[in-house]
Amino acid sequence: MRRIVILISGRGSNMRAIIRAAQNEEWPARIAAVISNKADASGLAYAAEHGIPTLVVANKDYPSREAFDAALQSKIDSFAPDLVVLAGFMRVLTTPFVAHYADRMLNIHPSLLPSFVGLATHRQALAAGVKLHGATVHFVTAELDHGPIVAQAAVPVLADDTEESLAARVLEQEHIIYPRAIRCFLDGRLSVHDGVVRIGPDASEAQAG
Ligand code: GAR
Repeated sequence: MRRIVILISGRGSNMRAIIRAAQNEEWPARIAAVISNKADASGLAYAAEHGIPTLVVANKDYPSREAFDAALQSKIDSFAPDLVVLAGFMRVLTTPFVAHYADRMLNIHPSLLPSFVGLATHRQALAAGVKLHGATVHFVTAELDHGPIVAQAAVPVLADDTEESLAARVLEQEHIIYPRAIRCFLDGRLSVHDGVVRIGPDASEAQAG
């Protein structure tokens, strides 16, 4: 049974979608822990209610980014995860931390990367006047929001959209593509060639072909 550790900072709606998919689809993996850098992250209660160990490693308790990342890494590694999933984990990570989880750490970002990195992506999209916006699942590399892209979903930007209405439309798609991307990783279907992700056929397609 493979092990996943999920990192959150807030409400954890992507984490919930992942927990639901893992249960409903009987994934060959278990969520070994949910870790938050904020003690008041509301997603922690949901994880605990579902019997998942929860931990807080509060960045405010550490004197530097390096010290925090080292503490976080040691907690994560105590669960020996095959995959680390960033689900609304709002921290910029140090290069050694990212290198330690190379090719086994995924993030979801609320834009169609490489457009609109960083924060306030829905505001950025509205200001740019794009007609399509969306979300991206990608492997995490040292450069913020730049790792190899695993999955994307696009939504229309409507004339009367606000940041909130656009965020809600994108979030709905996040909840679909993130569990699917993780499932592909667990099934060994993802491979990275020259920074580009290839997704192999699933077992049933391979059989049919
Ligand atoms: C999601 O929209 C996620 O894409 C975004 O934060 C939100 C977390 O919501 N992540 C980032 O902006 C990372 N740079 P959630 O806690 O309900 O999953």
